[in-house]
Amino acid sequence: MTPRPDTIRLGSLQEGAVYLATAALVFSGALWLVLHYFMVKQGEFGPTPHPAEPWMLRIHGAAAMAGLIVYGSLLPIHVRRAWAVRRNVVLGISVICFMLLLTVTGYLLYYAGSEQLRPIISAAHWVIGLAVPLLLWWHVASGHGASTKTSNS
Ligand code: HEM
Ligand code: HEM
Repeated sequence: MTPRPDTIRLGSLQEGAVYLATAALVFSGALWLVLHYFMVKQGEFGPTPHPAEPWMLRIHGAAAMAGLIVYGSLLPIHVRRAWAVRRNVVLGISVICFMLLLTVTGYLLYYAGSEQLRPIISAAHWVIGLAVPLLLWWHVASGHGASTKTSNS
């Protein structure tokens, strides 16, 4: 049976949770970048990280865990039904790929020991992360456009 397209639409609670988790991830990540690259103080023993830096990572880690639950909750209904009727597929899969890349690079930031690789993984992680709001906005705008047309990929 082909699912009815209107059931692809998220409920307001789930939609709000997607925006809230994404905003928490982007803001904590972006603030960490500002503190880390622009607000290092010269202390007695050389450059000292801003005291709010570790707090940004604590908030970011919590938001990442919440985000993975929220994004995962879209798979059984939102993604499966949109996939079945082939609506907004290219931008939908792109959002999933970005989230997967963020999860893998986030994992590597925790556990990859190499000092040479860390700056590359870090830059890859936050460059992809800063692009997420734009991609999500594009996905939503194109999805809403697609719901008034017969087909879209
Ligand atoms: C983690 C991945 C994804 C996230 C965070 C996400 C998020 C969203 C959000 C917030 C909306 C706007 C709210 C709404 O219209 O209900 C939306 C709309 C939409 N998404 Fe996704 N989405 C994801 C993956 C996908 C995939 C893989 C597809 C396609 C296979 C897809 C297809 C659509 C469609 C068709 C709409 C428009 C729904 C409508 O207006 O009736 N999404 N998405
Ligand atoms: C699915 C989404 C995401 C996951 C699972 C995730 C996960 C992680 C993890 C596990 C860390 C390491 C934290 C630590 O070292 O204590 C991290 C760091 C970081 N994340 Fe994310 N993140 C996500 C999205 C984002 C987004 C959207 C941004 C946007 C700017 C971002 C920016 C950063 C930054 C700047 C760091 C610090 C990098 C460093 O320590 O060198 N992340 N993230």
